[in-house]
Amino acid sequence: MSVPTSVLVVGQGYVGLPLAMRAVEVGHRVVGYDCSEERVKRLISAESYVEDVPDSLLARSLASGRYHPTTSADDCVGFDVAIITVPTPLKDGLPDLSHVEEAARTVGKRLRSGSCVVLESTTYPGTTEELLAPLLEEASGLLAGTDFRLGYSPERLDPGNPRWRFANTPKIVSGIDRPSLEAVQAFYDTIVEETVTVSGPREAELAKLIENTFRHVNVALVNEMAMFAGDLGVDIWESIEAASSKPFGFMRFEPGPGVGGHCLPIDPSYLSWRVKRRLGTPFRFVELANDVNDHMPGYVVKRLMLAMNQRGRAIQGTRLLLLGLAYKPDSSDARESPAVAVAEALAALGAEVRAADPFVDLAHQLSGVARVEVTEEEVRNADAVVLLTPHSCFDYEMVTANASFVLDTRGRLRGPGVERL
Ligand SMILES: NC(=O)c1ccc[n+]([C@@H]2O[C@H](COP(=O)([O-])OP(=O)(O)OC[C@H]3O[C@@H](n4cnc5c(N)ncnc54)[C@H](O)[C@@H]3O)[C@@H](O)[C@H]2O)c1
Repeated sequence: MSVPTSVLVVGQGYVGLPLAMRAVEVGHRVVGYDCSEERVKRLISAESYVEDVPDSLLARSLASGRYHPTTSADDCVGFDVAIITVPTPLKDGLPDLSHVEEAARTVGKRLRSGSCVVLESTTYPGTTEELLAPLLEEASGLLAGTDFRLGYSPERLDPGNPRWRFANTPKIVSGIDRPSLEAVQAFYDTIVEETVTVSGPREAELAKLIENTFRHVNVALVNEMAMFAGDLGVDIWESIEAASSKPFGFMRFEPGPGVGGHCLPIDPSYLSWRVKRRLGTPFRFVELANDVNDHMPGYVVKRLMLAMNQRGRAIQGTRLLLLGLAYKPDSSDARESPAVAVAEALAALGAEVRAADPFVDLAHQLSGVARVEVTEEEVRNADAVVLLTPHSCFDYEMVTANASFVLDTRGRLRGPGVERL
């Protein structure tokens, strides 16, 4: 594919914005379309809300004149490649593809013969061919495969990972037919170092769900083991450390207060829904993993209640300092965060909950939870400190030196006043 190409990225979130930045960096012209006025306003002012996109990179892209963030669908014309990166949440436990449908209509109305459309949103196998293709055809009056190219390419972002960045993470690409695959691959070959082809969109859609379900199930496995180990009086962290010395056939997963973000709590349910709907059978691993992981915030609360009870205290009225609200370390992402679930549950029990997280936006209000900084005074004044998200910026030495009791749900701390999950 010759550079520059006109690219339309629909959705400027955690997936769409880094993609748009990378496309601009290699020389493409990019329209970043998002329906959120607030987000686009911030983009226009070079104020990033995605941690892997520093303000300076956004400013450079804007200054190049090749990046145009917009809320106007009228700007979404004349593209060679359109990439859809909109959310695929669950609604009442079921896949909600309304954002993909809306995006398909926006793209379809502006689709020209010869252009290419790629879906990146995580979804169940069959979405590209059964849902997206007909919507694009209806809105454009064109035929998928005959008049325009269509494919699926899942995103594999790991925000904050210094080793695996956008450009050096291999990207799976697919098309509904050979010319579509060639068009999709040609585009991604301009922005990533390695593309991996599969025979069709269904295989690519399932590949993403295998990756996420694998992690989801293994996290659930160690979480369930952690609960047993606690009751059996075994230090699970030491056992995991020892098991990790096996140089083959083992991959390390760690327990924690539950799972958060989008990939683990939501995506596997797209697959179990599809399996149930199409085949009438449950996807038992996903259902079990959901069950175990969903119970983890409650287990953390129970462990804290037991620890306080041993100290002659009820949770009600106890002053707690929670460290971390994001769902993973060094991230500002608090979507579906189990730390938030723990904070809210403790506040509902009448604890005086104070939470510190320098990354999570202060606008992220939690009812009954005061947002504070981790100072010596905060730590000393807390009846218990609970480590929920092990951000590297926390001063753990200071915390263990000053806290009367710490419940560490992430296995990072040691010391006389520290109890680990
Ligand atoms: N965040 C990750 O690490 C990650 C990794 C891999 C895959 N994914 C998948 O990528 C998809 C997007 O996730 P995300 O994290 O970027 O979500 P996000 O919520 O950060 O961003 C999505 C953006 O799309 C916009 N949007 C919604 N409907 C729109 C429409 N019809 N037209 C234009 N804009 C619209 C929203 O305003 C939002 O800014 C999801 O399917 C998710 O599962 C996410």
